[in-house]
Amino acid sequence: MSNAKSNDKKLAKLPKILVASGVNLDLLGRREPDIYGHATLADMETLVQTKFASRAQIHFVQTNVESEYLSLLDGGWAGAVLNPGAWTHTSLALADRLTGLQLPFVEVHLSNTAAREAFRHHSYTARLAVGVVQGFGIDSYLLGVDGLLTYLAKRTR
Ligand code: DQA
Repeated sequence: MSNAKSNDKKLAKLPKILVASGVNLDLLGRREPDIYGHATLADMETLVQTKFASRAQIHFVQTNVESEYLSLLDGGWAGAVLNPGAWTHTSLALADRLTGLQLPFVEVHLSNTAAREAFRHHSYTARLAVGVVQGFGIDSYLLGVDGLLTYLAKRTR
């Protein structure tokens, strides 16, 4: 078998995970940089892809449309890393869908929502998550993927 073919085979065996950023996260880099930092979503994707390309097949998405975000979750993923943005604090629909799908996920936030306004303290989704990582800027995604892959590896052992 050619090297390229055996590489493709190896990649196909890796867990397929979704990294999904929700509403307003397309503005990362220019949105309130004192809170969210100067890095962009593209920077985050490069960081995560570089670190985890050999451990997972990672699909990155961002949308400002809640129904799109909900539909994407039903994609046969082994697990997901979710930053739903403001939907974290508003979306019972997102919580219901995650319950229905039984999708293992890690919730991530760039900022530490517990240290911010009171309306950001409640998350509809955190209680359903494997774990929550927040406050580390784009590194929250990195830590979130690491946590998810560790969780998935232990579960299938
Ligand atoms: C956020 C925190 C949310 O409260 C906020 O609405 C966001 C971003 C974060 O990553 O820190 O849009 O999810």
